Amino acid sequence: MSDNVIIFDTTLRDGEQSPGCSMTMPEKLKVAEALVELGVDVIEAGFPIASPGDFEAVRAVAQKFGDRTTICGLARCRKDDIERAAEALQGIAKPRIHVFLATSPIHMQYKLKMAEQEIVKAAVEHVQMAKSFCDNIEFSPEDAARTELDFLCEVVEKAIAAGATTVNIPDTVGYATPTHYFNVITYLKQHVSNIGQAVISTHCHNDLGLAVANSLAAVEAGARQVECTINGLGERAGNAALEEIVMALKTRHDYYNVSTRINTPKLCKTSHLVSSITGMLVQRNKAIVGQNAFAHEAGIHQHGMLQNRATYEIMKSEDVGFVGENMVLGKHSGRHAFRARVTELGYTLDETQLQKVFDDFIALADKKKHVYDADIVALIDKQSNVTAERWKLVQFHIAAGTGTIPTATVELRDEKHPNEPLSYRDAAIGDGPVDAVCKAMERIIGVTAELKDYQVRAVSGGEDAQGEATVEINYLGRRYHGKAVSTDILEASALAYLKALNKAVAENPSEKTEPGV
Ligand code: KIV
Ligand code: ZN
Repeated sequence: MSDNVIIFDTTLRDGEQSPGCSMTMPEKLKVAEALVELGVDVIEAGFPIASPGDFEAVRAVAQKFGDRTTICGLARCRKDDIERAAEALQGIAKPRIHVFLATSPIHMQYKLKMAEQEIVKAAVEHVQMAKSFCDNIEFSPEDAARTELDFLCEVVEKAIAAGATTVNIPDTVGYATPTHYFNVITYLKQHVSNIGQAVISTHCHNDLGLAVANSLAAVEAGARQVECTINGLGERAGNAALEEIVMALKTRHDYYNVSTRINTPKLCKTSHLVSSITGMLVQRNKAIVGQNAFAHEAGIHQHGMLQNRATYEIMKSEDVGFVGENMVLGKHSGRHAFRARVTELGYTLDETQLQKVFDDFIALADKKKHVYDADIVALIDKQSNVTAERWKLVQFHIAAGTGTIPTATVELRDEKHPNEPLSYRDAAIGDGPVDAVCKAMERIIGVTAELKDYQVRAVSGGEDAQGEATVEINYLGRRYHGKAVSTDILEASALAYLKALNKAVAENPSEKTEPGV
């Protein structure tokens, strides 16, 4: 029988920490729900001491999902951190506190200004303190990959003796290489006398593009927990990508002889959700979940595939829930066929949600000859918007072209009081048509944001493909994302910008955001 590898997802903590990837509370809950459905064993929901928002998010995720999966909160080796993490996880069935302290010479000398024995003492004390709140304790010697090996063994051994049930060996700066990391795990197994009392875990960053390779090398050496994120999200170049780890272990079961509990047909859907919420687009040729991951262009490959798919395909696209561009339904397709396709794509919608998406589908099929799977996913995405939006776009008009000053007129509806919505109109000029419409919306709402990123791409193939606009704005020092899809890219851009403004306004209700100011 093969061993199980624990999949520890840190999208909501290490992933969310990466620049431009912050999520609102409803978005975090949505991602947590998807992770539970995906079957991850541990969700690291955040760093409760970091901010009141982080605390509330860990608490909310714990309350909602803490009986179904292990929910973990991060803490430094500080009393306040540990108490705050314990408070956020209080009362749930499966809490875990993750305590960390750096052990590499450079971190000890310059960051912590602590000597080796002070580090050991602090680690032991704080693991014991965390243990007084819950049984399930993870300890991480931060920057372990650059830590002197015998000292690493000493800290790990004492942390286990103090009560750590998982010892995580982070490659915090993405410095390790596969053989090096394999040797670190092997050394720990050989030199830590009580190593059998804890699960060895990996946590690899991707600065050299080796996070997945290093994690797999650690599994080969005996690690039985892998820390990873959806789409490899994370600080700098990111963390190890969950979907790549899971599919490598599954596809090469013959070699690794380990299993995970991940429901792999949900991988693409989860990847899509996280990309949609964070605004971090998935590159087309990304392994497992990229648009091209299962595309075969070369004639020789296509020929082989027709004879036997296994000639050029090592995984089945349905095993990862891949949504291709295969033409599906047209405007005469009934609700029944539509519902069946939605289910095949891995989505569960209630009757009301299904009806709304179906109405949008009919409207789209009127504008567009071919409706692809990717279009349907975009429509579902639109309906599963999780942040309540105060401002709605009623209409806009743009005048632009050579020799004219780009000008936009916009009407927005303020749904602050949904029973008595009010409409406002304004106009603005801009550097281009998109800039003009964004400025007009800002004039109505009474805010000024800075556009940090703006991208437009086609959702599917064909000349009549829908355009997907993604924007990132900076408002009061925080980044907000918006994404929208339409057959008109100016409309998609306006809607995406408005979505980001709505998030900014919702998070800063005390700011002066009164119409027309
Ligand atoms: O990269 C790292 O070292 C971390 C620790 C907190 C585990 O994220
Ligand atoms: Zn990390």
